Amino acid sequence: EKGTYPHYMLKEIDEQPAVIRKIIQHYQDEQGKLVIDRDIIDAVNAADRVYIIAAGTSYHAGLVGKQFIEKMAKIPVEVHISSEFGYNMPLLSEKPLFVFISQSGETADSRAVLVQVKEMGYPALTITNVPGSTLSREADYTLLLHAGPEIAVASTKAYTAQLAVLAILAEVTAKSRSLEVGFDLIHELGLVANAMDVLCDSKEILEVIAREFFSVTRNAFFIGRGIDFYVGLEGALKLKEISYIQAEGFAGGELKHGTIALIEEGTPVVALATQESVNLSIRGNVKEVVARGANPCIISMNGLNMDEDSFVIPEVHELLTPLISVIPLQILAYYAALHRDCDVDKPRNLAKSVTVE
Ligand code: M6R
Repeated sequence: EKGTYPHYMLKEIDEQPAVIRKIIQHYQDEQGKLVIDRDIIDAVNAADRVYIIAAGTSYHAGLVGKQFIEKMAKIPVEVHISSEFGYNMPLLSEKPLFVFISQSGETADSRAVLVQVKEMGYPALTITNVPGSTLSREADYTLLLHAGPEIAVASTKAYTAQLAVLAILAEVTAKSRSLEVGFDLIHELGLVANAMDVLCDSKEILEVIAREFFSVTRNAFFIGRGIDFYVGLEGALKLKEISYIQAEGFAGGELKHGTIALIEEGTPVVALATQESVNLSIRGNVKEVVARGANPCIISMNGLNMDEDSFVIPEVHELLTPLISVIPLQILAYYAALHRDCDVDKPRNLAKSVTVE
């Protein structure tokens, strides 16, 4: 139930810190170590390559999950859009493991791929929020998100839950291969949950920013480099699906290869700066768009922030920044939709689970 909240989306945004804490609990043993069923870890270790298959927000979670699995567990990962994969299958490795990410577990495009790869005899793991869902029943293994029902069409808490579960999967796999991940994931996820609390309490500032940048604009761009680029894609999807502003995410370095032609006087450009290694380059990209009239909204991480930034998020481990940098983007999208009198929880032309191909 919505309780005192005007919309499910706002309630679900606010539930994120609790969801992360619940996930830590669910995936922890009595000794306080992260654990995942041995069968699942064996299946990951038996694979020479992981193929993540997903749609929409879950696809964006997969892009970040690839970084987790490659950096921590050192297994190569490809991420594919479900609806493309079936007829445009890449050359597969000898021992693939298919990982389906789906909040609902009912997405028809993903199910079609699952049926296909099962026919080919490959193992499949589903990461879903819904126990007993089709994708969960038809795969060999399931990992649950424990995020509680997500009602708003725009996915919020499922995305951050997917990231947390993917990070745990990467960490447990790494440990099973005696690889040093170099940080304590339980501790770092605890810090993420605390940072989320701070962000959920910053709605008033974000409402003002949403009014300034999005109340009248026709379009908006989200830029970032590396992991920030993937979060930008998610920020753009959130904004477009509920506020109907044409929004696109781009890699900072790609702008000059075409997209920059779209920048006009006042075009909002949201730039993410959470990674030290690319902080100066993304700020260089901001200068390029500002020189062409863009209205920049820089969202940076504490420690990397500069005077011109619109919003600063608390510092967390650099691999885990997507779990918190997405939150201001979710809140901005929410207020943009509200200010534009859109139906936040039930945007036009969309359904919560897409059960047709
Ligand atoms: O249930 P799924 O995670 O498989 O759904 C995939 C997409 O349809 C879904 O993420 C969609 O993009 C959301 N409305 C985005 O907010």
